[in-house]
Amino acid sequence: MVSEADYKPGLEDVPAAKSAISFLDGKKARLEYRGIPVEVLAKESNFEEVCWLLIKGELPTQKQLADFDDELRQRRAIHFRLKEMIRCLPADGHPMDALHSTVAALGMFYPCPNVQDPARNWDATCRLIAALPTLVAAYARTRRGQEILEPRDDLDHAANFYYMLFGKEPTPATRKVLDATLILHAEHTMNASTFTARVTASTLATPYHVVASAIGALSGPLHGGANEEALRQFEEIGDPRNVKSWLEGKIAANPKFKVMGIGHRVYKVKDARATVLQEIAEHMFAETQRPKNYEIALELERICNEIYGPKGIYPNVDFYSGVIYQALGIPTDVFTPIFAIARVAGWLAHWHEQLQNNRIYRPEQIYIGRTDVAYVPLEQRP
Ligand code: ACO
Repeated sequence: MVSEADYKPGLEDVPAAKSAISFLDGKKARLEYRGIPVEVLAKESNFEEVCWLLIKGELPTQKQLADFDDELRQRRAIHFRLKEMIRCLPADGHPMDALHSTVAALGMFYPCPNVQDPARNWDATCRLIAALPTLVAAYARTRRGQEILEPRDDLDHAANFYYMLFGKEPTPATRKVLDATLILHAEHTMNASTFTARVTASTLATPYHVVASAIGALSGPLHGGANEEALRQFEEIGDPRNVKSWLEGKIAANPKFKVMGIGHRVYKVKDARATVLQEIAEHMFAETQRPKNYEIALELERICNEIYGPKGIYPNVDFYSGVIYQALGIPTDVFTPIFAIARVAGWLAHWHEQLQNNRIYRPEQIYIGRTDVAYVPLEQRP
């Protein structure tokens, strides 16, 4: 029997798996994928290579990367009936809900019935990475009354996603920014959505269910959904001069008020990814007028550092990503789906790792309900 003393709300500090995929030191803001610092990967690598690294455990050879890239390009297109399904979804729905549904449906069109079959397993791995951008772009366009665009196999992953979203190729600088954001979001140890993915994987469910369930977990405002909420919060503030009074008002109304895009269970200093994203933003806005939301974010960080810094609460990955996506013209409610387009790499890496040494997740609970309660027939109840 477990006792109250064993209980850790939110499983804080409880190891839920042994993993060799990523390493995080929350006191030193150190994040590594398979031992390589994420800052280095964001600068030197590309998303396709990072997917291989996370899933296979090593950097690919030139041939492995070229073959993998081909395999991804071949799986970008989606079945025409999946496009019909996307057209039937409500235009005012949330893109994360659309992604959740269409990833599950993807598994019906391209099934992976036996997760232990290496060929089907690899096909599904490549398909999920390749098709998520197609699903996100298809819904984003359909709800704007635009035609769904076919993927282009002459463009890389990031450039093709941008093309499918906007109908034009990105500039090299925009492509690099988008690619770097995908790398920075690709994996992050045992977070809520990755844990969800591993729990689903442990039942030997298909990889489509693994990813769909992780998408559900990612959607919440305490997790991936915070990028969208952070930007909405900057818009609510409206001007850098309003930051202090806005925050004071929020705290006065609710002393437990949470600023979106700051705080983290593991990080006690500024998230390494937030630092890189801020550098990207600085670079993007170096020669143009800084967007107001970026100025607001900078001022909010400054004031939050004063108030929350002593508690170890600093910007996380979701603080600056929205400002960057907005500058690229991406609609606010598509921010979290882009997180999913990136994080699918980490989820799949964890799916593979879980299957290598699987044991179904079945934790305990502390029962606090009643026992031996008599059943009262309905006619005797008020
Ligand atoms: N704003 C203000 N105070 C905060 C914040 C915040 N964003 N985050 C934590 N705190 C405070 C809490 O009020 C609490 O204070 P107390 O000890 O005085 O009661 C203390 O810090 C601990 O907070 P918890 O919520 O218990 O910390 P936990 O580890 O459970 O939560 C979480 C982490 C959910 C990320 C939290 O910091 C939060 O809600 N942040 C805002 C949402 C957000 O940005 N989420 C994205 C995280 S990154 C990602 O998932 C991709």
